[in-house]
Amino acid sequence: MDFITLNNTVTIPQLGLGVFQTPEGEQTENAVRWALANGYRHIDTAKVYGNEDSVGKAIAESEVDRKDIFLTTKLWNEDIRQHRAKEAFEESLKRLGTDYVDLYLIHWPADGWQDAWKDMVDLYREGRIRAIGVSNFQIHHLEELAGISDIVPAANQIESSPDFPNNEVIAYCREHGITVEAWSPLGGTGGSLLKNPTLAEIGAKYGKSAAQVVIRWHLQRGVVVIPKSVHEDRIRQNIDVFDFTLTDEDMAAVEAAGSGVRNGANPDTFDF
Ligand code: A2P
Repeated sequence: MDFITLNNTVTIPQLGLGVFQTPEGEQTENAVRWALANGYRHIDTAKVYGNEDSVGKAIAESEVDRKDIFLTTKLWNEDIRQHRAKEAFEESLKRLGTDYVDLYLIHWPADGWQDAWKDMVDLYREGRIRAIGVSNFQIHHLEELAGISDIVPAANQIESSPDFPNNEVIAYCREHGITVEAWSPLGGTGGSLLKNPTLAEIGAKYGKSAAQVVIRWHLQRGVVVIPKSVHEDRIRQNIDVFDFTLTDEDMAAVEAAGSGVRNGANPDTFDF
């Protein structure tokens, strides 16, 4: 596993398991259990995914110590709009069965995010959260945040894949010491990215699948990557990516294989 050091010296495993669209109950419990058994030490959930209870249960039942797991969850938009960041944080902790999270993110720049950030800074200073950050923030949101707070977000989790690399936001984050995390890194559920023959051709050179090639592309770009799967073989496959290196030519070809369009919502026009 490779690690990235966040701007407050906390380290994050560069690869984690994402559990977006992984239903509460057996599917999430199994996915987290298989991930931990196969070497993952980083789980990325969110209140709105509706599976924090199952993530917490699988962590509690695993043989891995809580302190050896990097756990992320996110503050949902309704809680931001209702100015209840601190209450929502306590509710997430309770569901997760833990007394801290490693990373807490503002999920989307919903109205009121500026106040939510101040509440999160309080929780961070109290030592309840090891690092705080944002998600789906555009450059103008990050600039506004810099104007109202001395704390630079440790991370910005954004849509990024060969389909929509999001390079401008990544360049801005890099300049400002903000670690980028890629969501929908494989092009998302129902996406067509992994069917692109170029990815399979590149993978064939290394004995790797299209998904492994895309995960490797993310790692070599220096972003944190959190592929989602509910299948044990894929969960195992997705972490088996530390024994090959894409060439510069491969990296360019992977990026060129994408559709060029977002799979998810635009942070400037989202309506949820
Ligand atoms: P599944 O959960 O059925 O394995 P993203 O991480 O970009 O959101 O993409 C996740 C999608 O990619 C899911 O539909 C997931 O399906 C699928 N997926 C995850 N890992 C692999 C893999 N190694 N090979 C093929 N598809 C994968």
